[in-house]
This record gives sequence, structure tokens and C-alpha cells, in this order.
Amino acid sequence: MSEHIGNETIDGVMTLTLQRPEKKNALSGTMYDALSNALRQAERDASVRTVLFRSEGDSFTAGNDLADFARQASSQDAGDSPAHRFIRTISNASKPLVAAVQGNAVGIGTTMLLHCDLVYLAEDARLMTPFVNLALVPEAASSWLLPLRIGHARAYAMFALGEPMGAAEALACGLANAVVPRSELREKSQGAAVALAKRPPGSLAMTKSLMRDPNRVAAQIAEEGRRFKECLRTAEAREAFTAFAERRPPNFAVVPG
Ligand code: COA
Repeated sequence: MSEHIGNETIDGVMTLTLQRPEKKNALSGTMYDALSNALRQAERDASVRTVLFRSEGDSFTAGNDLADFARQASSQDAGDSPAHRFIRTISNASKPLVAAVQGNAVGIGTTMLLHCDLVYLAEDARLMTPFVNLALVPEAASSWLLPLRIGHARAYAMFALGEPMGAAEALACGLANAVVPRSELREKSQGAAVALAKRPPGSLAMTKSLMRDPNRVAAQIAEEGRRFKECLRTAEAREAFTAFAERRPPNFAVVPG
């Protein structure tokens, strides 16, 4: 278990809390693994009826730890990354998933919401999928699921231009169930998770599986994963990660094609 992931089960609700606020809850490999292990534990444990994702601090998450991306870019390891394992695990969850999101939800912070069943946003929530800013490609089947949910034009602007989406627009687009003041986010999401935990689990699981296309999602995740890995090793991605570490804008004009 990572020190940066809280895991507590009360009244049938497993609450997983991102606890790295000093790094805007950026997700390291150990954090992804802790989340994957907790989701697998939730699948096995009949007393867990719902999983609630939340986070401490002013951001839901700044997405993948960019230092980890830089390390993966220079490593020869061809194995599965913790992020990819988490994506596969969350996309296969059979129990209801609820998310409570405040502040920035970058990259996986937004794409994981496409695998959650109820999403509550604080008024200051900002959903961002700036994969192209980092010379990467979308993940978590978002290249299929996001256009499906919000239309090609808006999804493309989020991916390619890194345009953020505010809470009100996300609600209007059907990406969220409600927008609430920050002070009410915890109670609202917890209340929904407890309500789900009291409902018949077999019926909930079947309803969820009927609303998803697991084979299509798995195929998209696999294809994105293959291309994501290719992208990580490119000169343009190296420039993007170096620029973030050096706190300067990337310069893609000088990168060999
Ligand atoms: N990986 C690693 N560290 C990160 C991070 C990330 N994805 N995002 C933020 N941090 C760190 C910063 O390096 C900084 O650390 P430091 O205090 O040791 O210098 C700290 O978190 C605070 O970040 P800062 O950028 O100062 O906060 P901000 O409020 O000005 O901006 C964000 C918040 C989320 C908009 C900005 O941090 C950001 O754009 N992060 C990168 C997001 C990203 O591209 N993620 C990958 C998506 S695929």
C-alpha cells in the first residue's frame, strides 16, 4: 500500500483517497499499484459494495507523475506500466464506482471518470486531457469514450489543444451527475456511494455490464497503450518532459520529426 493512497471501508463503501497534495496528487507507480490492488480487493470482498474515489488538497490529481514518464521514456523495460495496469483494472470493475472531483483533474484524472458510474464535481473542477501537449496520445479508451460522450469537436479540442472543461460544461455534457460547492462535495458523493451500497448488488452489477462494451473498451485500451509506449520514447516527448521539469514551455520546432 502506498503512503499516498488512503483506503478505508465503512458501511460497504471503500473510499480511496489520493493523498499527495504537495504534488497536486500526481500519480506515481506505487500509487497506481495501490489503487489497482484496492480495486481487486474490492472485487473479492463481498462486504465492499461501492468504491468512492476522492482526494486531499486543491486538486483531484495532476495526472501521471511526469518524472515517472521521463524515467519510462529512458528505460528499456517493455513490461506493463502501473498506469496501464490501473487502467485495465478500473475498466473491468464490476462494482459501482463514484468519484468526487475538486480542482484540476488532469490526464488520468479525467479519463478515469469515464469508467466511474457517478461523478460529482466541485464548482472549481477543471477537466483536462492535454496528451498532445506532452507529445502523447489519449489513454483509458478515452479516444473512443470521450468523443462518444461529448462529441468529436469538443473531445478533439481537449486532446489536441489541451482545452480545459469547467464543471458547469461537464455537467451539461453529461460527464457528471451534479456540481456542488466545494464544502458539500464530500457529503454529496459519500451519500450517493452509501445509497448505492444499499441497493441489490447483483442487479447493480448486471446493469453496469449492460451499459458497457468491455471488448471494445479493452481493444481500445490495448491499441492506445501500444501507441502511448511508442510516443513515450520519441524526441518530442522527451522535450515535453524536460520542459516541464525546467518550468519552461516546450519547443517542438527544434525537435527532429
Ligand atoms: N507530475 C509530477 N509533479 C507534478 C505534476 C505531475 N503531473 N503536476 C504538478 N507537479 C508538482 C510540481 O512539479 C510542483 O512540485 P514542486 O513544488 O516540488 O516544484 C507541485 O506539484 C505543484 O505544482 P505547480 O505546477 O506549482 O501547481 P499549479 O497549481 O501552478 O499548477 C497544474 C497545477 C496541475 C495545472 C500543473 O502542475 C500541471 O500542469 N501539471 C502537469 C499536468 C500534466 O501534464 N499531467 C500529465 C497528464 S497526462
